[in-house]
Amino acid sequence: MKYLIPGLFVLLMASCSKSETNSGDAPITYYHEKYRPQFHFSPAKGWTNDPNGPVYFNGEYHLFFQYNPYGDTWGHMSWGHAVSKDLLHWEELPVALTEYPDPATGDSTMIFSGTVVIDKNNSSGLCQSNECMIAIYTSHVHKGGEGKTQHQSLAYSNDKGRTWKRYEKNPILDIQRKDFRDPKVFWYEPNKSWIMALVIPDLFKVQFYKSSNLKDWSLSGEFGNIGDTLRIWECPDIYQLPIDNESGKSKWVLSLSGSHPAGPKFVGMQYFVGEFDGATFKADDPRQKPLYVDYGKDFYAGIVFNNIPKEDGRTIMIGWANNWTYGNQIPTSPWRSAMSVPRELSLRKTAEGIQLAQRPVRELSMLRGKEITDFENIENNSMELEIEIEDDGSTGLSIVLKNDSATTYISYRANELSVDRTTSGDVSFNKEFASIETIKLKPIDNKIKLRVLIDQSIIEIFANDGEQSICEQYFPPSGKMKLKIAGGWTIYPPLSTNPTDNIDRLDNIKLKAWEIKSTWQ
Ligand code: FRU
Repeated sequence: MKYLIPGLFVLLMASCSKSETNSGDAPITYYHEKYRPQFHFSPAKGWTNDPNGPVYFNGEYHLFFQYNPYGDTWGHMSWGHAVSKDLLHWEELPVALTEYPDPATGDSTMIFSGTVVIDKNNSSGLCQSNECMIAIYTSHVHKGGEGKTQHQSLAYSNDKGRTWKRYEKNPILDIQRKDFRDPKVFWYEPNKSWIMALVIPDLFKVQFYKSSNLKDWSLSGEFGNIGDTLRIWECPDIYQLPIDNESGKSKWVLSLSGSHPAGPKFVGMQYFVGEFDGATFKADDPRQKPLYVDYGKDFYAGIVFNNIPKEDGRTIMIGWANNWTYGNQIPTSPWRSAMSVPRELSLRKTAEGIQLAQRPVRELSMLRGKEITDFENIENNSMELEIEIEDDGSTGLSIVLKNDSATTYISYRANELSVDRTTSGDVSFNKEFASIETIKLKPIDNKIKLRVLIDQSIIEIFANDGEQSICEQYFPPSGKMKLKIAGGWTIYPPLSTNPTDNIDRLDNIKLKAWEIKSTWQ
């Protein structure tokens, strides 16, 4: 269903002028709309899904993204493009790669997800100087919306990503399958070679290919059919991460998109911890229970930036803050969908094994504005909360967000953290949207720490220094908010009918809150 495109494709292609498709010169009235995130990236108008080819090059972070230049639902997939100097303030540029027709066959090729690498030694021979940007993406061939085949293609840019040329000998990798997609390419220094990881979605398989010139690829290994296979696999990525609490040690992580921890009705992301030997990935424990990247409903297709300078050394992931189950219906206009805040990744040794830890990139703290002290009267719900509670086993916490008649609850008690968006505002656009997410969360040294980012229609929670994360959309009726923080078990829902159990204990809570400045001013 997702891959059906509106029938009027040809007509639309003909009638849309370049300037209408180019949101680079968006009028300044954009970014003030109801629900519009103020510090999360979203295109000025039109539909977006996966982030594509995030890469750092010559002082700029580039973000490409699955984009429909002609509408606000999925279709005509192309690569939108934005650049930033700090991962937060983005400037949208003209669409980088657009869907193109093949007049001879009547087929059309959409530009599906993929990667951008910096070809530093002109290994491809496509650079005009000794380095240039190379995009490797899935060429999705369809006729009238019916998918025919998927193969991998290459495009190159010699002007810092401002204009792109498709390689004339495309495709560069074709195994004659209908579904074969989402190449992630990176440079593997020990073997001095390029590596590509991509999926055969319906076989729950990641394949690895290697190349010396980005154009000729040979199969080097396969990984799959383990973990959560309840829904097709998409958008793999593979990277090495330091273990925070084991100095000098690191491990490889393979992450990919598929089923949600709450079941295959929704999409989500899982990951494996293991080793990569230059040819293939092996999980440390192939029988481990699935590990998930985020427990909210709105974090998908996450992928890490290529070419972050060595001196910086971070691994930074950005994800799509939406879910395929209801994504095409969320009540926003004239754009639909945003990206998560970029997250710095690491690993941490825990009682349950080595697990992913995520925190918002440090640049975000530069956006902190006024400290919020009057919680009864918050003018603008783009904010950040830092909360620490002493958990002596009998305490809990409720953060109650009130926007007019709507209420959203973030609650912690008895080693569980939950977000309840069932009464959060507009939940009517899709019957699957209203939901409560719950995750296990144990105190560390008797403390629970929460960092909560609230941005108009997106809530991202990082718990215990990023050991757990939840990204959720919600659509409250107004931008103004009242916030109530309560300790004990009182607020939602009262667990006990004994009134003395329901004492509002604030003595064990430390709270700081800041307004977050808009990045779109
Ligand atoms: C994931 C995905 C990818 C594909 C793209 C198409 O959300 O389905 O597998 O390349 O979206 O838009």
